[in-house]
Amino acid sequence: MNAMIETTDVVKHFKTKDGVVKAVDGVDISVTEGEVLGLLGPNGAGKTTLVKIIATLLEADSGTATVGGFDVSDVAKVRPLIGLAGQFAAVDDVLTGRENLEIVGRLYQLSGKEAADRATEVLERLSLTDAADRLVRTYSGGMRRRLDLGASLVGQPTVLILDEPTTGLDPRTRLELWDFLRELVAGGTTVLLTTQYLEEADELADRIAVIDSGKIIAKGTADELKERLGGDVLFAAPVDRSKIDDVGRIVGAIGNGDPWIDDRTGEVSIPVPNRIEALLAAGRQLEDEGIELADLGVKRPTLDEVFLALTGHAAEVEADEPAPSGKGGRR
Ligand SMILES: Nc1ncnc2c1ncn2[C@@H]1O[C@H](COP(=O)(O)OP(=O)(O)O)[C@@H](O)[C@H]1O
Ligand SMILES: [Mg+2]
Repeated sequence: MNAMIETTDVVKHFKTKDGVVKAVDGVDISVTEGEVLGLLGPNGAGKTTLVKIIATLLEADSGTATVGGFDVSDVAKVRPLIGLAGQFAAVDDVLTGRENLEIVGRLYQLSGKEAADRATEVLERLSLTDAADRLVRTYSGGMRRRLDLGASLVGQPTVLILDEPTTGLDPRTRLELWDFLRELVAGGTTVLLTTQYLEEADELADRIAVIDSGKIIAKGTADELKERLGGDVLFAAPVDRSKIDDVGRIVGAIGNGDPWIDDRTGEVSIPVPNRIEALLAAGRQLEDEGIELADLGVKRPTLDEVFLALTGHAAEVEADEPAPSGKGGRR
């Protein structure tokens, strides 16, 4: 299969007042034609830096990156292949939605008529026809994000790069945008999608690469990543919350690694190699110690648990904010 995007050992440093940051630290990814690769990682993981290198907007310190078989240093060959929708909507506030898209069309060397037709088409596709002639200033956050996505589609790109397309959107608008993205990717476009939302990667991506501190720490389908935890997760919740550490000790001896104790839900969970044996052993031992249970069972792990197991920290942490307290974590 053809790799539409391929990076090999890409490294990028930034100099800051506090020293040097290694933003991208030897990244290899490849996205085959028609595939959606989800690049999943928390804030500051290096996603945007890698995206900019692939989109010819930033030069790597070392390593190689190609798009459609062309090295990214061949800007004239690579740029026409790419549509990029950034993390922050890049559309102009004091123009209408239609005007924004027509300008992009003209930048792609379309004639006035072609640019107008293309704008109409894209507006229709993103359900912005009714708002087309209003100033963008009056658009909601979700509409802006859609228009920004529209701008990246004007040039009919072979490769679409979406950098955190739904970050900061409310849940309903995010679901709406996912529908658009699903339609788009069903059309066979090759997509590199960065996200800090596990659910988004799970929903939209064929394969996921997990990035943390500039390094790819895992790759695979969502199912494969979940398998890595050993298949299943045992969970147990005592009726009496003060017994939660005892539950942690008991299930900790049954499963793999350290138990995850969630103070918020009062639940203890841990990956287990054999679901039935683990469930029986936990039930027996908890009963032996006289711990009454509100809940006990086995489930498939969520991507959240996968991420936590891989990195030791949660994926969805807001910018410049400490992790929410009381949300549990490894002990
Ligand atoms: N222009 C820059 N100058 C200095 N440091 C930067 C610059 N851009 C990014 N960084 C740093 O590089 C790291 C990766 O950033 P970024 O690629 O934006 O991550 P992400 O998109 O995953 O949030 C962070 O530590 C960030 O602070
Ligand atoms: Mg970013």
